[in-house]
Amino acid sequence: MDNISIFLCFVIGLISLILISFKKRYAYWRDRGIANLEATIPFGNLPMGKVHIKDITDPIYKQKKPGAPFMGAYFFRTPVVVATDLDFIQNVLVKDFSNFHERGMYVNEEDDPLSGHMFSLDGEKWKSLRAKLSPTFTSGKMKFMFPTVVDVADTLNSTLAEVLKTESELEVRDLLSRFTTDVIGTCAFGIECNSLKTTDSEFRNFGSKIFDKPLHGPLMELFRTQYPNLARRLHVRVVSKEIEDFFMGLVRETISYREKNNVRRNDFMDLLIRLKNGEALDERSQKLGRVTFEEIAAQAFVFFVAGFETSSTNMLFTLYELALNPDIQEKARREIEIILSKYEGKLTYEAVQDMVYVDQIISGK
Ligand SMILES: *[C@@H]1O[C@H](CO)[C@@H](O)[C@H](O)[C@H]1NC(C)=O
Repeated sequence: MDNISIFLCFVIGLISLILISFKKRYAYWRDRGIANLEATIPFGNLPMGKVHIKDITDPIYKQKKPGAPFMGAYFFRTPVVVATDLDFIQNVLVKDFSNFHERGMYVNEEDDPLSGHMFSLDGEKWKSLRAKLSPTFTSGKMKFMFPTVVDVADTLNSTLAEVLKTESELEVRDLLSRFTTDVIGTCAFGIECNSLKTTDSEFRNFGSKIFDKPLHGPLMELFRTQYPNLARRLHVRVVSKEIEDFFMGLVRETISYREKNNVRRNDFMDLLIRLKNGEALDERSQKLGRVTFEEIAAQAFVFFVAGFETSSTNMLFTLYELALNPDIQEKARREIEIILSKYEGKLTYEAVQDMVYVDQIISGK
């Protein structure tokens, strides 16, 4: 045999081995007698190309079998469970939660400290951070921050009025993101982001980079969640170095400014700084120990990201639906007017609590 034939035999052998290993892998659910979808090599049941997460789970869900609590499927080579039954979902999320605390998110704290936040961490790490940070999420804190939110809303109103002087159309998504960026900046970090007042706010620019220009495409995202150990060995990140530098620098500056000038504020950053310095927030958290600078930065990062994007998207869809449904819009406006008149025209925390219909619209109830 000449060299080329040897080479071809080797390639064919290798491909056959890979195919056989996939076939064996894709027998996982069938061997266990679980209803599952036919998988194709090498993606399993993942669709090709750029898709929404619902385009991944929907086709699997639609083929659910009556009486079965879940469907088996494959993401690449990994067998996955797609829950299709409410009681089963409740068991996973509540009753048996201690066995299901992993989020299945990719974390690489060593190369990418900002990836180590509460939304992604698993197990003990998640549990300990959650216990340390939950004092931030009380209704008293929300009430305290409310006037700040209203101040930013006033800026939103005047920015809108300014824009409408010259434009008859505007990009609502951007405007709302700037609003929530400013809210989360002042409420959580005590930082004036000024993204409503200036068109070129660094905060806003980095915020949109995170969502509009993700570091990796969907396939790489799946790769790192499916093979996290391999991905970590290859130093795969979640957050780009540029965003890391901006954010870590900002948090470092904020902390050092507050520590040097003894600035105390009733916000998220204050709580994080106290945890870093080993102060006891309450009896429980005393035993939990300190948090590191990297941990602070990561939690601040996810607070910012989750804080501005989720609420601005929610507001955007709400406004869109209201535009399509003028009768609902009118009813909401009437409710706001009636309740504001009860509170002497002032938008207070209590007034907002009374707006039941508006809440139903926003929460989709
Ligand atoms: C919003 O801005 C407009 C135009 O400047 C002003 O007339 C209106 O009173 C403002 N509304 C609130 C609630 O501040």
